[in-house]
Amino acid sequence: MIQETISREAARRYYDRLGAYQDWAGRFEGRAKTRALILLTPPPGCRVLNVGVGTGKEHAHIAAAVAPDGLAVGLDVSPVMLRLTRTRTGTPVCLGDARQLPYASASFDCLYAAYVLDLLPALDLPDLLHDFRRVLVPGGRLVLVTLTEGVDRTSRALIALWKLLYAISPEGCGGCRPLQLTGLVRQAGFRLARREVVVQWGVPSEIIVAENRG
Ligand SMILES: C[S@@+](CC[C@H](N)C(=O)[O-])C[C@H]1O[C@@H](n2cnc3c(N)ncnc32)[C@H](O)[C@@H]1O
Repeated sequence: MIQETISREAARRYYDRLGAYQDWAGRFEGRAKTRALILLTPPPGCRVLNVGVGTGKEHAHIAAAVAPDGLAVGLDVSPVMLRLTRTRTGTPVCLGDARQLPYASASFDCLYAAYVLDLLPALDLPDLLHDFRRVLVPGGRLVLVTLTEGVDRTSRALIALWKLLYAISPEGCGGCRPLQLTGLVRQAGFRLARREVVVQWGVPSEIIVAENRG
């Protein structure tokens, strides 16, 4: 696993600049996120935290699913992304870091994070996953989507090229590098319910569904 990534400040600058153009990544991330939303399926009344909410495209679906009595909260380090999410969804948003969730224990029934852990240093991931577990109720559902290692010839070649580019300029890659999270998720005390890899235009994404064992 690539250990180091970009700083929080560099991530904020990058995604503030990118803004609504982030939705273009849907060309190679869209299928994985659609599948992840199906696996999340929050029922009406559910409280969902969306970490690294981005432009709010998927968050709009989550907010609609939990309406009218549920709660869909989007957290992000980028004020521009939060503005886009608020405009798109009208849901509460929170300026914050995935590594320091400003919520009481057991505040949420589900936690969704797509293409965010890929931006964080490997050393931070164990504590972050423990904190994800802390804010979930016992039995609560975690759904993660990240860039991952290739699973066929095309995706393996593409990830090998991506790693070369990443070595030259992590910032140029938006800080995103491939992860494989099943081990870390289990070590944090979750029960792994499902792992899938979705490849779109050669880009492999890992979807993890896990349950807080409480
Ligand atoms: C690749 S985008 C993904 C956005 C959205 N989840 C999606 O799937 O389209 C990464 C998002 O994570 C946010 N982000 C980066 N570092 C973060 C951190 N430490 N804590 C919270 N959000 C972060 C960025 O601002 C950006 O909105």
